[in-house]
Amino acid sequence: MDERELLRSVPLFSELTEQDTVGLARLATRRRYPKETVVFFENEEGDFFFTIISGRIKVTILGDDGREIILSILGPGDFFGEMALLDNEPRSATAIAVEDTELLSLHRTDFQNTIGDNPAISHALIKILTARLRRANQQISTLALLDVHGRVARVILDMAREEGHQEIATRIGTTRETVTRMLKDLERQALIKIEGKEIVLQPDFEKSFD
Ligand code: CMP
Repeated sequence: MDERELLRSVPLFSELTEQDTVGLARLATRRRYPKETVVFFENEEGDFFFTIISGRIKVTILGDDGREIILSILGPGDFFGEMALLDNEPRSATAIAVEDTELLSLHRTDFQNTIGDNPAISHALIKILTARLRRANQQISTLALLDVHGRVARVILDMAREEGHQEIATRIGTTRETVTRMLKDLERQALIKIEGKEIVLQPDFEKSFD
């Protein structure tokens, strides 16, 4: 496939006219990244936008404890590296090829001109970035729930005496329904037993929060 055909198959560029696709194809460069190669690192200055022709790219950041956090795994037709070009900030994440990968890169100026000249592309870009934000929100809510789980357990441990779900909720800053759900989860894991209004801590409870 030549660059023009490749660009045609990328959803972001599907609205381009034939003439614009040919023009853009001349500006794009094909690059190969063997498995495990870093395309760029978080916090670097970045001047290129990439679309994936084949292979897969892992988008990661480093957590406070130095652990790698995977934000997303992108595949053919997906793009990345747009953020640093849109807000002129450093790269927000590291991009690594998880298998042999081929990319099509566009220089900052060409990317900016293309979106400036084509409202349909700006629109498609906003739509995809919105989908990424929705997905990130979903992840935040899952993590927040996990966090509530930990805090519920901690308060139960601290109190180790009978109190209503509403009191626990107030102390943690969540709703009674969430507390009830978390307590049912803990009961399923055999860490507590709910007997009427009493919460009976099981032998494994303390051990599981060491
Ligand atoms: P940029 O900041 O230039 O470099 C890192 C790239 O990773 C970023 O542009 C986006 O293209 C991509 N990226 C960052 N965060 C996410 C995310 N939450 N989901 C998918 N892709 C992301």
